[in-house]
Amino acid sequence: MTAPQKSAGTVASVMTEDRKFPPPAEFSARARIGSLEDYQRLYDAAAADPEGFWGERAAALPWTKPYDRVLDWNPPEVQWFPGGRLNASAACLDRHVAAGRGGKTALVWVGEPTGERREYTYAQLHAEVCRVAAGLKALGIKSGEVVSIYMPMTPELVIAMLACARIGAVHSVIFGGFSSEAIADRNQDAGAVAVITADGGWRRGTQLPLKKNVDVAVARSPSVKHVVVLKRTGQPVEMVAGRDVWWHDLIEGMPSDMPPEPMDSEAPLFILYTSGSTGKPKGIKHTTAGYILWAQTTAEWVFDLRDDDLFWCTADCGWITGHSYITYGPLAAGASLLIYEGAPNAPHEGRFWEIIEEEKPTIFYTAPTAIRSFMKWGMQHIEGRDLSSLRLLGTVGEGINPEAWMWYHEVIGGKRCPIVDTWWQTETGGIMMSPLPGCTPTKPGSCTLPLPGVVPEIVDAAGHPVARGDGGWLVLTKPWPGMLRGIWGDDQRCRETYWSRVPGKYLAGDNARQDSDGYFWIMGRIDDVLNVAGHRLSTIEIESALVSHPSVAEAAAVGRPHDVKGEAVAVFVTLHKSAEASDALKEALRKHVRQQIGALAVPDDIHFAAILPKTRSGKIMRRLLRDVAAGRETVGDTTTLEDYTVLATLRGNDE
Ligand code: PRX
Repeated sequence: MTAPQKSAGTVASVMTEDRKFPPPAEFSARARIGSLEDYQRLYDAAAADPEGFWGERAAALPWTKPYDRVLDWNPPEVQWFPGGRLNASAACLDRHVAAGRGGKTALVWVGEPTGERREYTYAQLHAEVCRVAAGLKALGIKSGEVVSIYMPMTPELVIAMLACARIGAVHSVIFGGFSSEAIADRNQDAGAVAVITADGGWRRGTQLPLKKNVDVAVARSPSVKHVVVLKRTGQPVEMVAGRDVWWHDLIEGMPSDMPPEPMDSEAPLFILYTSGSTGKPKGIKHTTAGYILWAQTTAEWVFDLRDDDLFWCTADCGWITGHSYITYGPLAAGASLLIYEGAPNAPHEGRFWEIIEEEKPTIFYTAPTAIRSFMKWGMQHIEGRDLSSLRLLGTVGEGINPEAWMWYHEVIGGKRCPIVDTWWQTETGGIMMSPLPGCTPTKPGSCTLPLPGVVPEIVDAAGHPVARGDGGWLVLTKPWPGMLRGIWGDDQRCRETYWSRVPGKYLAGDNARQDSDGYFWIMGRIDDVLNVAGHRLSTIEIESALVSHPSVAEAAAVGRPHDVKGEAVAVFVTLHKSAEASDALKEALRKHVRQQIGALAVPDDIHFAAILPKTRSGKIMRRLLRDVAAGRETVGDTTTLEDYTVLATLRGNDE
């Protein structure tokens, strides 16, 4: 990082990262897209004739009725492949079985308790999905009805999603770490008719009371008529007669082959709730044909999927990453998946590396927050482990600071694996910007270039494009097949959130800038921007500077009101085990930020914290930190917080 750049844009950029890593020649030689010329050709073809481009790619989907047109676009109303019919579970399973690939491994599952492991071929997964689909149908669940899924990361979670898709039911997966309050809210908002759950789930050696949480939630969810319960941990649960049924009883005697329901291209496939900056969670709606095409195509492009790959995405199916790059994308592409049930530090902090040594995945896709944890836990868990099966690494969910990128590249990737830093959102359905590993030179911290079909622009508050190098709002100017089709039951909120501030364009809610190579750098959420003495600063850049100090494991920067400067910079810092919190270290960190970025960004307050408040998907909840920094009570929604004690601890630590 070097000195600040000019700050003429909407957001001042203070970070320049000069390192560049071309894809290894041997990787490019075998890659699906092996040169920048090939990428450019695809990009130009998609831009020149989107309907021809996507029509060509959609031809391989298992249509039961051909579509009439590729695209109807009247922003924000969109329809991809109107008139067509197909089924998403058939796109993931039946077509591979029909093509003679039923014997290929679809899924390898490793349980949290050591020694538990299962494998499913495509034919076996197909049979299980059919049984559950037939069971759900026998309960009376109909096409178009909503089913909530609240399960641990077992193969049955993937099976439940695909079984819903098979009968045309709309699934709403609720992350297994959420509270009963969150389940009830989501059941009510979606009008769910059933909940699929388990007795419990394993999390760091303890048993989560999943069924108990569902019982409390269902008491407040009048629409729910059925609860299906998988026996996972064997812990005692209460079964309510007439409402609850065991999973194994549901599938008893059900057929292992059952025809899929032909669904309209635009029939809802799933809802996934995501938190907005204020108010209740939004049920993001995705539909059938465009989503499947986007999930499959992006999985093939970005992960360069080959027949002999074993793809490990460490996400949970409770998040969009688990929808698009566990269940739908890789399975539609006919890939082999690795799923792990538990936490990366259970039963020990080297668990992931042990799994890589044993299962030999070739592709590893995880979150920057996990990478920073691995760095903090130390090399002793990694040294001596054989990670040589890996050929490609990926990150998702937040910006990766260059320090963590370099560590990932050197320690986990052995300097031989390209890293794909993938930018996307629940709303986009799949990856939008990312290096293509066989052709795009990478720069630590940049998600590089848009995928074919994605047309991003960076604009100011008036909607005008900013000058190259300046920061501004990231918008997407053209429709893409995987785009959201609305917020469940709230079209008005959808229009206001995404389509009004820059009319006719999709507002992603992130700030970004483009460098002189045209590479995109995400600068954090629009509402994470600080305004210090009239200069707008991105939280990610301050955090990156802090994390590049040898004592710092993780950092979060927020603004707090300041009489003179408008906002002061407050940072919350988690230290490496070897470092000690002290006033001298605070001074050293201030000096470090001054050196890295400049006096403007020097934190006014530094809070040392043992842990930071995070959502269960690992995102730092800056909204809560802003309250702590300002000495305010938290009034907003805290139901997505992983550890409720964190806030009280932080308040106790205030300077
Ligand atoms: O701010 C961006 C950040 O995560 C947001 C989307 O969050 P969610 O809908 O939960 O989906 C996460 C999984 C796709 C984005 O608006 N984000 C995601 N990926 C990146 C990122 N920020 C920087 N770099 C990324 N690669």
